[in-house]
Amino acid sequence: MARLRVGVLISGRGSNLQALIKACGDPAYPAEIALVISNRPAAPGLRLADTAEIRAAVVPHFDRDAFAAEADKLLHEQGIELVCLAGFMRLLAPSFVEAWRDRMVNIHPSLLPAFRGLHAQRQALAAGVRFSGCTVHFVRPELDCGPIIAQAVVPVHPGDDEERLAARILVVEHRLYPLALRLIAEGRVRVIANQVEIDGWQAPEIAVLSPQDTSARPFALPSA
Ligand code: GRF
Repeated sequence: MARLRVGVLISGRGSNLQALIKACGDPAYPAEIALVISNRPAAPGLRLADTAEIRAAVVPHFDRDAFAAEADKLLHEQGIELVCLAGFMRLLAPSFVEAWRDRMVNIHPSLLPAFRGLHAQRQALAAGVRFSGCTVHFVRPELDCGPIIAQAVVPVHPGDDEERLAARILVVEHRLYPLALRLIAEGRVRVIANQVEIDGWQAPEIAVLSPQDTSARPFALPSA
């Protein structure tokens, strides 16, 4: 079966790009990265693309509309079917977002709709939440909005700082993004009335308390 042709937009480090590259390295994985676009020439993620022998381009983002036109042209030239934002740090032109509606996804380091925008981990710590995590969602013109495909949860530990929490979330980002991409590439993900339906979807059977209830025995949730 043909693999889904994916374009990845980055601005920096590219650790999520690397996680996707690794997943696509399995011949049984249903997607391949055919193009990487960075708005910054110095983005370390470009080197990761280079090492993996993936076509890469730098498209500056001084002007939103000029970026949209050039990126759209490159994506079409490469026959890209799905765009993954992976640490792409600029707001995209609404026309670009609409053109790729339900064909563009993003990963954000919080449990959306909480803590949209920059410094999501700092926002989570300031709010005193006991859990945070990450979200893969379809992109809409408003920042960090759009139908939720998948989420992963991590605990906030006492004494966490932004860096420690970000590192803990990043570990699950690198598992969640390849999972979400696989589900999309398998054709199992549909947007219906602004919510995502996934064929054969299963939620975990466990609940987690924080603080832990050390006085109680482990419990199972009643099955549906
Ligand atoms: C990640 O935390 C991602 O959730 C956010 O930006 C960061 C990008 O990291 N959108 P990297 O470039 O993938 O390492």
